[in-house]
Amino acid sequence: MKTELVKINRDNFTEEEFSFAAQCLREGKLVAFPTETVYGLGGNAFDATASARIYEAKGRPSDNPLIVHIAEVSALAELASEVPESAYALADAFWPGPLTMILKKSDKVPKTTTGGLDTVAIRMPADPVAATLIRLSGIYVAAPSANASGRPSTTKAEHVIEDLDGKIDVIIDGGASAIGLESTIVDLTGEVPLILRPGYISAEQLAEVLGEVRFDEAVLKRSASENIVAKAPGMKYRHYAPKAPLYIVEGKSEEVIRYINAEAVKNAAEGRITGILATEETKKSYTGGMVFCVGERANAESIAAGLFDTLRSFDETGVSVIYSESFADNPLGTAIMNRLLKAAGYHIIRLQKDEDI
Ligand code: TXA
Ligand code: MG
Repeated sequence: MKTELVKINRDNFTEEEFSFAAQCLREGKLVAFPTETVYGLGGNAFDATASARIYEAKGRPSDNPLIVHIAEVSALAELASEVPESAYALADAFWPGPLTMILKKSDKVPKTTTGGLDTVAIRMPADPVAATLIRLSGIYVAAPSANASGRPSTTKAEHVIEDLDGKIDVIIDGGASAIGLESTIVDLTGEVPLILRPGYISAEQLAEVLGEVRFDEAVLKRSASENIVAKAPGMKYRHYAPKAPLYIVEGKSEEVIRYINAEAVKNAAEGRITGILATEETKKSYTGGMVFCVGERANAESIAAGLFDTLRSFDETGVSVIYSESFADNPLGTAIMNRLLKAAGYHIIRLQKDEDI
């Protein structure tokens, strides 16, 4: 299949530029598009054949449900069988934006979209390209992240081309995703709202609207030996992994740098190249290996925005092992570490307790 590439400038576009992609969505075709979190692979949420094609293009297990993307809050009443007040309060506070809500699904939503579940995930994205595409298509757009299953999510059209060229109908190139990590997912179907996936909207922000909110235990998992099954089906799969094994090194900054430098020397002696995921503040302290700067420690948002791109970059370098610095336990750090831990298969090297990095 030939994949059409459509470039749209998110700061300056006309609606006509969307007519081809919107028409494709209506015809049951697949269109990758930018959102403020990551790129999504869109298809008609009410068309079982379109969802089947999404699963096939991504190589995604069919029990892993898709998020339904909407353009108007009024869609909640059509997609959910019950809409609690808390959902409207969250929509008011955070939509359009990087928040996904899980609600009980209405009969209109096919189980092919929800991975067989009786609940549905709903999000209204803020990126103007995403919002305009969904509105002009006139349909509800099921869209998982537009990456091949298991690989890091895509934050640029180039990433989508790498993973999905020839497998989908259209890729809209709207530039880099501003946030770079997938939406926060909150499940509103239980007694207490539960965060199934941490993201840019923090637990603290949600608590301001909801009162009480808890994390699904699996979100806070820090080691491979903790055998907790995630409530979001997709969170249980190996994800985000670069091709080479990845280790997160925790400890005081100088010790982390010393450890990684020593490993790079050892590996070089054996003819192996070491990949290093570093930051603006530390990158010059590495004396060997192939160093990639993910962002600035002082600016957690820059780390979120650069994470998936950096993880992907290692794949073209031939490194045989990757060491990453660890990130602070602040609200956005929780989301960053959640993705990094998955990418590393929970392999952490702890140099000492009470670490500062
Ligand atoms: O930011 C995002 O959310 C991006 C953009 C494209 O909107 N989308 C995204 O979709 O990350 P995906 O499919 O890669 O991740 C969706 C996650 C998966 O972990 C899935 O298991 C979970 O949401 N999920 C979807 N429906 C669910 C449901 N009914 N109950 C529990 N988890 C659900
Ligand atoms: Mg995904």
